Amino acid sequence: MRPIIKTREQIEGIRKAARLASIVLDEVSFLVKPGVSTEEINNFIHEFIVKNGAIPAPLNYKGYPKACCISVNDVICHGIPSPDVILKKGDILNIDVTVILDGFFGDTSRMFYVGCLEDVSLEARKLVESTEMAMFEGIKAVREGAYLNDIGVAIESYILSTKTGFQIVREFTGHGVGIKFHEPPQVHHFNTGKSGIKLEAGMTITIEPMINVGSWKSRLDPDGWTARTVDGSLSAQWEHTVLVTGFGYEILSIS
Ligand code: MF3
Ligand code: CO
Ligand code: CO
Repeated sequence: MRPIIKTREQIEGIRKAARLASIVLDEVSFLVKPGVSTEEINNFIHEFIVKNGAIPAPLNYKGYPKACCISVNDVICHGIPSPDVILKKGDILNIDVTVILDGFFGDTSRMFYVGCLEDVSLEARKLVESTEMAMFEGIKAVREGAYLNDIGVAIESYILSTKTGFQIVREFTGHGVGIKFHEPPQVHHFNTGKSGIKLEAGMTITIEPMINVGSWKSRLDPDGWTARTVDGSLSAQWEHTVLVTGFGYEILSIS
């Protein structure tokens, strides 16, 4: 399946949706503190999205039960918000928000620290910062005429340059986004060794690298969603929705 080249009108709709998703992450940050459950964060996000005339895309997506994904510490992605997951000092977590606004999808996620910066281990901070930098290296590779694999090459070479030994998750990818939640193409965050498709202006994709302190391998919890590192090491992820332009790129998921 060929990626969809969006029209000017569609891009405007996706920009609005992605901006709202980013605003959701701005607004939820006050709740990220010790003693708060990921369920409470989910409920705030759900209400905020609905109040703004939008729909939380994850809810009932392929049977997913909640409005967002919240992935704490060794959870790589798709953590299901729960009253049993209570944030504590020193935790790191990803909150991943996808909204449907007027039929258009915007998808973005960020990392948060629980407690003061000093409560978070130096290794965890290095992981979170390196993952954000890796995402931006991937984004900077985006332009009309570049190849899909340029994104993965940029991310992989950045992570290698940190000499941390951090590993890039291979089983979960970025994706086309905008008219549907997950559209072609798949966006790998490592060098696949194949150029992949040529990027064209008007494509909208996510870049959302997941990086682990240890092994890149994951296993699923019995809930069928929560993906954790096999070795229990920490994992981080950052995500933006990005438009391919003739000039380069435009990050749509900014507030
Ligand atoms: N937001 C995730 C992504 O970045 C997808 C979550 S699918 C869900 O692609 F069903 F778990 F919500
Ligand atoms: Co995504
Ligand atoms: Co997402």
